[in-house]
Amino acid sequence: MTRKSAQLDEQLHEYLLRHGPRPDTLQLELIEDTQRLLPDSADMQISPEQASLLTLLAKAIRAEYAVEVGTFTGYSALAIARGLGKDGRLLCCDVSTEYTDVARHFWHRAGVSERIELRLAPALDTLRALENAAVIDLSFIDADKTGYIAYWNEIVPRTRSGGFIVVDNVLAGGRVLHERQDESAHAIHEFNRYALRDQRVELTMLPISDGITLARRR
Ligand SMILES: C[S@@+](CC[C@H](N)C(=O)[O-])C[C@H]1O[C@@H](n2cnc3c(N)ncnc32)[C@H](O)[C@@H]1O
Repeated sequence: MTRKSAQLDEQLHEYLLRHGPRPDTLQLELIEDTQRLLPDSADMQISPEQASLLTLLAKAIRAEYAVEVGTFTGYSALAIARGLGKDGRLLCCDVSTEYTDVARHFWHRAGVSERIELRLAPALDTLRALENAAVIDLSFIDADKTGYIAYWNEIVPRTRSGGFIVVDNVLAGGRVLHERQDESAHAIHEFNRYALRDQRVELTMLPISDGITLARRR
């Protein structure tokens, strides 16, 4: 039996949040506005510990060019943008004007609008239209789960050696274990199997929030 990650109950999660970097006033406002304006979809937003991880990772690898697939109200994009170098650029892919109008408002207030380009189109179209050179430093995949393998296959070859790809929801709320998986959980399960066999990357899966895969391009 190997050692396993801590199970976080409410109290331990609260402790983790109190002893990690707190969301600042603007991030808290973004979280609250998302819950108020989009109560039925707000749980799509990443957690504060994911946000600080994305910022830290962007800084650690000195990311200058990042790509996000699935932007929603902009919390993860804000986190990535804050970790980029001074000439850094972030390309965001989403299909919803309603969601991303909220994002634009907060990016403007955070002073990161200039470094973010938002493309409102199916992410696969946006990714396929990118140049083929391996120039991406950091990507975050967090959109429709059935598209994960296709997004991955557009992003991996365009990622520079040593660049990172972060993939969200890889535990699908535990539904990856179900014998009869729903479409989304099945797609995630297939993605997890696919990514593990992909010799172009080395990866680890972390039990943060709904599970993330952290992959490094060889
Ligand atoms: C889980 S949310 C992203 C959450 C976001 N990363 C955050 O931190 O708040 C998924 C997003 O993917 C977008 N989406 C769904 N299907 C898409 C597609 N085919 N192309 C681009 N975006 C898509 C949705 O509009 C939604 O905003």
